[in-house]
Amino acid sequence: MKIAIGNDHVGYNLKLHLSEYLKQKGYDLENFGCDSEESCDYPVFAKKVAEAVASGRCDLGILICGTGVGISIAANKVKGIRAVVCSEPYSARLARQHNDANILAFGARVIGPAIAEMIVDEFLNAKFEGGRHQKRVDLISQMENE
Ligand code: RB5
Repeated sequence: MKIAIGNDHVGYNLKLHLSEYLKQKGYDLENFGCDSEESCDYPVFAKKVAEAVASGRCDLGILICGTGVGISIAANKVKGIRAVVCSEPYSARLARQHNDANILAFGARVIGPAIAEMIVDEFLNAKFEGGRHQKRVDLISQMENE
């Protein structure tokens, strides 16, 4: 599975931590920046990750800013993206199982590295269940074309 990962300056250190964690687990990661703690604009990196996922170049994405809010709002502007902010593992699992979320976002000012690992594990290990959830996801997709 290929994972796109991106962040702003606030998310940089947590991105480094999670990149090591995920590489050790055997995931193929593509880093879309930013790559320092110098102040930058999260929509730039949200767009890069979202386009990589929407195009199929990467299977899923992870985005980190201060809260996960701004970077997920920006990612959701790209057609085909269902980005979710999760600060605990249960929502991360259900976001994949029920909502077919394709980008996970969270905030480096909200959660620490240990809970971030748990959230990422739940998100990446869960599978979309389809069935009654497919119709609902399709209704969301239809809204993009209206
Ligand atoms: C940057 O100060 C901060 O606004 C950003 O990281 C993020 O939390 C936005 O939603």
